[in-house]
Amino acid sequence: MADPLRDDALPTLRLLTCGSVDDGKSTLIGRLLYEQKLIFDDQLSALERDSKKHGTVGADIDFALLVDGLEAEREQGITIDVAYRYFATTRRSFIVADTPGHEQYTRNMATGASNADLAILLVDARKGLLTQTHRHAIIVSLLGIRHVVLAINKIDLVGYDEAIYRRIVKDFEAFAAPLGFRSVVAIPMSARFGDNVSSLSPNTPWHEGPFLLDHLERVEVEDERRDAAFRLPVQWINRPHLDFRGFAGTVAGGRIKRGDPIVVASSGRQSIVAGILRADAAVEEAEAGDAVTLTLADEIDIARGDVLARPDNRPQVADQFTAHLIWMSQEPLLPGRSYLMKIGARTTPASVTELKHRIDVDNFEKLAAKTLALNEVGFANLATTAPVAYDPYAENRETGAFILIDRTSNETAAAGMIAHGLRRATNIHRQGLAVDRDAHAAIKHQRPAVLWFTGLSGAGKSTIANLVESKLMARGVHTVLLDGDNIRHGLNKDLGFTTEDRVENIRRVAEVARLMTDAGLIVLTSFISPFRAERALARDTAATGEFIEIYVSTPLEIAIARDPKGLYKRALAGEIKNFTGVDQPYEAPEAAELTLDAGGVDVETLAERVVAELEARGRIERL
Ligand code: ADX
Repeated sequence: MADPLRDDALPTLRLLTCGSVDDGKSTLIGRLLYEQKLIFDDQLSALERDSKKHGTVGADIDFALLVDGLEAEREQGITIDVAYRYFATTRRSFIVADTPGHEQYTRNMATGASNADLAILLVDARKGLLTQTHRHAIIVSLLGIRHVVLAINKIDLVGYDEAIYRRIVKDFEAFAAPLGFRSVVAIPMSARFGDNVSSLSPNTPWHEGPFLLDHLERVEVEDERRDAAFRLPVQWINRPHLDFRGFAGTVAGGRIKRGDPIVVASSGRQSIVAGILRADAAVEEAEAGDAVTLTLADEIDIARGDVLARPDNRPQVADQFTAHLIWMSQEPLLPGRSYLMKIGARTTPASVTELKHRIDVDNFEKLAAKTLALNEVGFANLATTAPVAYDPYAENRETGAFILIDRTSNETAAAGMIAHGLRRATNIHRQGLAVDRDAHAAIKHQRPAVLWFTGLSGAGKSTIANLVESKLMARGVHTVLLDGDNIRHGLNKDLGFTTEDRVENIRRVAEVARLMTDAGLIVLTSFISPFRAERALARDTAATGEFIEIYVSTPLEIAIARDPKGLYKRALAGEIKNFTGVDQPYEAPEAAELTLDAGGVDVETLAERVVAELEARGRIERL
C-alpha cells in the first residue's frame, strides 16, 4: 500500500491504539489528524463550536469530539467494529485501526490488530499500569505485533514529572520482558495539548525523543508475510463458463509465479499454475496481500476453503491443535461445546477439548481454569470435526489464526492463534477392516451400546453396573464392564484427580468403550465422570444412538453417610484433595437417558430398569 509516487517510501505502517475508555485514545487520533491538517476547515469550526458546547477541556479544542463524532456517524451502520483511518506524511502513509474502547474491546482489538505492525499502548500517567494495560500488552503480543509505543499520556496532569514517567517505563519494561517485543519506545505525552505528538515538547526537556510522529515515520517493521511460505486460501471457485475454472482468494503468504508447481493442502493433489489474474489483468506473479485468481494446468478437485501451497512447503493438516484463545463473548467458554471454527476460507465445527490454563494477565501465571470469561486469555486443546490446513501462528498470522463462532447467536466468541497440531492427520489414515462392527454384533445376536453410569463416589454406580452385567450374562449377552477403580490400576494408573486428569481419564475410557462396541459388545462404564463436557465427548465418541447415559442420582448426604471406602471422611478432614462433592463439583446430567434414584429405590429394581431400557432400545433381544 506504499504510495506509488514515492518508490523509496517506507511501507505503509499499520497501527493500532489500545487503551481504556478515558486514556485519551480518541484525543490522540484526533490530535494526529489535526496536526497533519487532515481536518477540513468546516469540520474545524464545527469542532470549535462543539468543544465549547460539550467539550470537557474548557476553551480548547476537544479532539475526542472529532473522533467520537465520526464514530457516532459510522455506528449508524453498526456492522463494523473497527474504523480504519488513513493519513500520510511526506515520509510515510499510515493506517490506524481505531477501536472503540467499550466493554468488548478485545473483539475490536483483535479485529483491528490482525494486520497491525505496531501498537500504541496508552497509559494515564496519573494511574500508571492497570490490569487493563497488562491485558492489552498480552493480547498485542499474542496477536503477533512486535513493536510497541508506550504512550504515557496526560503527562501535563502530573506536572510533567520525569520521575513518574520513569517509574511507569520501568514497570512496563519489567512486565513486558517475557512478551518478546522487538521494540518498545516510551514517550511522555499530552494528547490534549500536543506534547511530543508532532514535535518535541519544551515541557519535557528531560525527554530526548523521539516524539510520536517522528517514531512512527521512522520505525522499521518487517513484513514477514512476503518471506513466508506461499499460501492461498481458496475463497471461491470462479467458473464463468465451461472453459474457465479459477481459484480466487487473497494470498496469505509468500509469492507465486506462473509455471510454479502447486499442491492442494488437504488432498495432496498437484498441478502447475497456468495463469494468474489480478484485478482482471493477467500477471506473471503475485505476492502476499494480493487478491488473485489462479488457473491450473490440470483439472483437480479443489473446494472452497482448501489451501493452495508449494509441494515442497505445505501447511500442516490436523484435526486437533493447541491454541491461545482470547475470549470475546459474554457467554463464557464451554469446553466440549460445539462452536464453528472459521480458519482462512474454511468453516468447520470445533470444540475445546481441554482448557489447559488461563493466563493471569498481571503476572503471566498459568491458572487452572474450567472456562474463560469475557476478555480472558487462555491456552487450550481444540478438535475439529474434519482436518484443516493451517500453519502455526508464529509462522503465519493469517493461516494460523481462527475465530470461534457461537452456533446459536452467530456472534464471534473467540479469536484463536494456533500453537501446534496434536496429531498428524497427514500421515495417518483410517484402515478399512474386513470384519466390521455390524458383523461382530450380528454373531452375538445383540446390538452394541454404551451404558454410561455417572454419579458421585458412593452413589451406587458400581453396585448397579455389576448387577446389570450379571443379569445380562444370565441372558447370554456379551458385555464388558469398565470400572473406575479398576481402570485406574492399569490403563489410567498415571492419572490423578485434577480436572485435567479427569478429562483425560474419561477421554480414554470413551475411546476404549468405542473400541469395545466396535467388537459388538454391550459396554458398561462406571466412572464419576463429573463434568458435562467430557460426558458429551464420550457421547460424541460413541456411534449414533449407542450411548445411554445413566445418572445414578444419590444425594451427597447419603453418599457421605454410606462412605463405603472411608474416602469422604478423609476428604472432609482435608486429607484428600479434589474430592468430588467436597472440593470439586459434580455436574449432574441435564438430559440423561435414564435417572436412577439410588438413594431411595433398591438396586435390584434399578438394575431391572437398565435391562428394560436396553430391550426397549432394541439393543438386546426380549426374553
Ligand atoms: S472420575 O472423576 O475421573 O470419573 P473415577 O470414577 O475414575 O473418577 O474414580 C473415582 C474413584 O476414585 C472413586 O470412586 C474413589 O474410589 C476414588 N477416589 C480417590 N480419590 C478421589 C477423589 N479425589 N475424587 C473422587 N474419587 C476419588
